[in-house]
Amino acid sequence: MVNEAQARRFLVMGNWKMHGDRVSSEVLVQRLCAKREAIQAAAIDVVVCPPATLIASVAVWGQSNVMVGGQDCHTQAQGAYTGDVSAEQLRDVGAQWVLVGHSERRQYHQESNALVREKALAAYRAGIKPVICVGETLEQREAGLTNSVVREQVLGSVPANDGMNYIAYEPVWAIGTGKVPTMEDIAAVHACIITTAKSELGIDEHRLIVLYGGSVKASNANAIRQVSGVGGMLVGGASLDADEFSAIMDAAISV
Ligand code: PGA
Repeated sequence: MVNEAQARRFLVMGNWKMHGDRVSSEVLVQRLCAKREAIQAAAIDVVVCPPATLIASVAVWGQSNVMVGGQDCHTQAQGAYTGDVSAEQLRDVGAQWVLVGHSERRQYHQESNALVREKALAAYRAGIKPVICVGETLEQREAGLTNSVVREQVLGSVPANDGMNYIAYEPVWAIGTGKVPTMEDIAAVHACIITTAKSELGIDEHRLIVLYGGSVKASNANAIRQVSGVGGMLVGGASLDADEFSAIMDAAISV
């Protein structure tokens, strides 16, 4: 069962991708922790997903105010998988979250919906929360296929979980480009995801948080935050800048 207050916590998540070293990351996390009282008062969740090399350190620096997540995990708990990291290993060093199915993983590592689903199940097995990413390419959007692509990704990569479920809608063409869909378009795709999860996967809205990601910045966070169906924001480039990410946290705190 999901506690209702927990269910409605807005999630601000930073994806550092392959950026950051120990010196710059400690400064960044400490700047974010300066907001600990506001974070606690607003009851929002703040998570950063650094490269694997920094997860253990960020878990220590962030304490419980800024939580830490992985950017990917393997499907297996352990084994002969050179270069991979399991969800259990992420949890062992303090991660409570993990991104799965980010479009860069789908694109550069040929990850299929079925594999992403296995990774999400691995995260649940290890006791950490997967944030499952979906989103259409520009070609697909221009062909009018956005809703059908996103629906198919949700059906193929989201295993229904009894507790909370987290899905990030990230249009591929909005990632790192400075381009953002209209607020109406974001609302429409979030509604499609919520409907699909409910009617086809049996995941009720109160057990589902749908994040928006793709060129979220301080300047648009307030508007995105207020779009119907947006329960969180997944932030790439702007999460590497303490001022930008703090302002995005402020947008989440203020509503
Ligand atoms: P961006 O990246 O904010 O730099 O567009 C988002 C993401 O890839 O998660």
